[in-house]
Amino acid sequence: MDNRRLAILLSGRGSNFIAIHEAIQRGDLKATICCVISNIGEAAGLRRAREFGLKAECLPSKGLDREDYDGQLVAKLREYDPALICLAGFMRILSPVMIRAFPSRILNIHPALLPSFPGLHAQRQALQHGVKVSGCTVHFADEGVDTGPIILQRAVEVLEGDDEGTLSARILEQEHQAYWRAIALVLDTMQDNGGA
Ligand code: GAR
Repeated sequence: MDNRRLAILLSGRGSNFIAIHEAIQRGDLKATICCVISNIGEAAGLRRAREFGLKAECLPSKGLDREDYDGQLVAKLREYDPALICLAGFMRILSPVMIRAFPSRILNIHPALLPSFPGLHAQRQALQHGVKVSGCTVHFADEGVDTGPIILQRAVEVLEGDDEGTLSARILEQEHQAYWRAIALVLDTMQDNGGA
């Protein structure tokens, strides 16, 4: 298997995408980014992708129901033939149309130690529950919200006096370390198994 092409889906600033890009540039992650796709035209991550000279496209989601949008997304992604699709702050719930089109090939990163605190505002949820340790999780996407088999986690201590901003920033540092390592693990395993 020599397909190590990554499609990145994002909706916002794209710091996880940039961390993956930098790991590739450093030679730590043997992969290429074949496309960056966003549902939000103004997403800063999309602009950065263009600055890096990567294929970057907006596929607007406004006005479309989930299945119709995901049908368009599947068709768009197939043009790029990715080995893996990496959700990097892609703030949409995927329908079975997407999940079934790419079984075990969609990765997500979430800013909590799943299965704790799925969904929005994971760091706020962690603070509200008073946990002493949180972190981030890279996992395969399945038909649930932030469920699916876990690939890698990194723990972050919750400090006295932490607020949502400080905790989110420390978790994000770990996200930037975790995502490319998880991608490398999955690509290497796919290669060992002899196919995409
Ligand atoms: C990251 O913290 C990521 O874990 C989170 O969105 C942020 C995107 O930041 N994703 C989720 O909460 C998914 N449930 P980024 O655009 O800078 O990578």
